[in-house]
Amino acid sequence: MKEQLAKIRAEALSALENARDSAALDELRVKYLGKKGELTAVLKQMGKLSAEERPAMGQLANEVRAAVEGALETATQKLEEAALSAKLKAETVDVTIPGRPIRLGRRHPMNAALEEIKEIFIGMGFTVLDGPEIELAELNFDRLNAEEGHPSRDWSDTFYFDEDSRVMLRSQTSPMQVRAMDTMELPIRIIAPGRVYRKDEVDATHSPMFHQVEGMVIDKNVTMADLKGTLNLLAEQLFGAGTVTRFRPHHFPFTEPSCEMDVQCHKCGGAGCPTCKGEGWIELLGAGMIHPHVLEMAGIDPDKWSGWAFGMGLERTAMRRFKIADLRLIFENDVRFLEQF
Ligand code: PHE
Repeated sequence: MKEQLAKIRAEALSALENARDSAALDELRVKYLGKKGELTAVLKQMGKLSAEERPAMGQLANEVRAAVEGALETATQKLEEAALSAKLKAETVDVTIPGRPIRLGRRHPMNAALEEIKEIFIGMGFTVLDGPEIELAELNFDRLNAEEGHPSRDWSDTFYFDEDSRVMLRSQTSPMQVRAMDTMELPIRIIAPGRVYRKDEVDATHSPMFHQVEGMVIDKNVTMADLKGTLNLLAEQLFGAGTVTRFRPHHFPFTEPSCEMDVQCHKCGGAGCPTCKGEGWIELLGAGMIHPHVLEMAGIDPDKWSGWAFGMGLERTAMRRFKIADLRLIFENDVRFLEQF
């Protein structure tokens, strides 16, 4: 019987140590510890032993049982641990693997051009203003010296909201000059980019909605030389060193004297080609010295202060900057077009 118990113990322990899964463990539990198990079978023979032999044998049997139970416990734990670590390993996320790249769009050429213009003027100490697209005719026209009857006020040119022609979609960013004069401390240096609206048919160079960037300086002893110097610097920074500009006399009701600035055509260098319609030059902006009456209407003494202003077409600037041939491309937002910038 002693040998039997020793054999059970040895067999059970080695079997438990080699068990591969919980099903095998269950089988072994039944085989050794179950009601019909081997150990139970041995214990049932205890009755045949003498009274002296019984306690020692009983103790041995208990030890064997405890040993098998202990081994079963250890084996179960080992299997659970192995299962857990296998699961963790299978579920491992390698956080060092680079993610899938997100495809970003690109900056629209209009925004790219505006960004450059802002950079240039911010560098010269200008503040960037934003203003309403729905504007009072008073600010768009009256306060800019364009009185009743001025051709630009005509219904055929301007989008009005009311019969009395008081509220309109601004036709220029110039009312931002007035808004700045009314709200800011002197001296003033501002640019004001934004949308403007005119009743124009769509073609390669026209759109009923387009963008302008207004610029204005009011300070003491400001002259036309400052205006030309600033605009020449703008042209060189935008289009490259040595960019040739030309100032032509012009008329605006709110500047005196007034001019338009052209940039020499980048395609033909001034000889004349389809891009510049044979002119050799591309018109970029209108400008001039602020009319004394406009300053007076804003309560600014024209004997003490003077100023200049300009209004540039942003589409034209972007077209020249990025060599775009047709204005409509800018608004169609065809990805094949946009991806080129
Ligand atoms: N507002 C004028 C236009 O739309 C441009 C301009 C702005 C001219 C400022 C002079 C001064 O044509």
